[in-house]
Amino acid sequence: MSKYRTPLRYPGGKQRLTPFIAELLTENELVGGHYVEPYAGGAGVAFDLLIDDFVSHIYLNDSSMPIYAFWKSVISNPDELCRRILNASLNVEEWKKQRDILRNPNEHDEIDLGFSTLYLNRCNRSGVLTGGVIGGLSQTGEWKMDARFPRNELIRRIEVIASKRDAITLRNWDAEKFILEYVPDLPSNTLVYCDPPYFLQSRGLYLNHYKEQDHARVAKVIQEQLSKKWVVSYDNAEEILSYYRERRKFVYYLQYNASRAYKGQEVFIFSDDLAIPSHSSLSYIDQAIPISYAT
Ligand SMILES: C[S@@+](CC[C@H](N)C(=O)[O-])C[C@H]1O[C@@H](n2cnc3c(N)ncnc32)[C@H](O)[C@@H]1O
Repeated sequence: MSKYRTPLRYPGGKQRLTPFIAELLTENELVGGHYVEPYAGGAGVAFDLLIDDFVSHIYLNDSSMPIYAFWKSVISNPDELCRRILNASLNVEEWKKQRDILRNPNEHDEIDLGFSTLYLNRCNRSGVLTGGVIGGLSQTGEWKMDARFPRNELIRRIEVIASKRDAITLRNWDAEKFILEYVPDLPSNTLVYCDPPYFLQSRGLYLNHYKEQDHARVAKVIQEQLSKKWVVSYDNAEEILSYYRERRKFVYYLQYNASRAYKGQEVFIFSDDLAIPSHSSLSYIDQAIPISYAT
């Protein structure tokens, strides 16, 4: 388990893959360079790489306003965010207030929205922002809504990230615009890791989701116009394999939910100019299976 951890619980969070991304950086002589996530979410990999000095600057983009407001609060207003965490009432009345803030994001300022994002992420089942509260509205479940709200630990994580604020750039753009208009100006020693919403399981997990034609268009943009070395991860769907059929890739299994022992099959896809570490080094990913669909 990572020493630092992102404060956000994220369905499908990729922090377990940090050692692999670190190896990619090493193999490609990108250590000390720049690291980009156009679909940042909980951004666990990015913070681990930054805090362990594998990269010197991270660029996090997410089109979700609540997610952006949370990260913006972490780096621009950490003291107030931590004060709210320390004083938060963990009861259903407060949960409803926070839910109303998230439902009407334009009526609230950044810190209110950022805090409500963290609050609902930590108090809702599986961290799903639009989901139900842990323990139910009657709070009669085995777990209560405070089960995932370790105040001091959350504050510690936020303070560690805030201490690196000068090395973090945030954007709240659509990923395609970000890839086309922001990434080209970054230095050549940059790695871009794209973790788009799932192809098959996305509905309900996040506030935004792509339809099939969006995934297809993004695949084209990444392959034809993303000007830096890149890696993409996806759930292992036939359509995804077909969009990226000419690229090198491998499938791996990642255990998401310990309680249900659910194992998802995912796929990594690589830009042609990226050197891939030998498979013997992938022991931290359960059963990495190289596949080749190159035509
Ligand atoms: C699979 S999650 C990323 C999870 C992340 N890798 C982690 O470890 O936490 C996808 C993220 O993309 C964001 N997103 C969805 N559609 C987007 C778009 N069109 N542009 C940018 N971000 C988008 C969602 O808000 C979500 O946070």
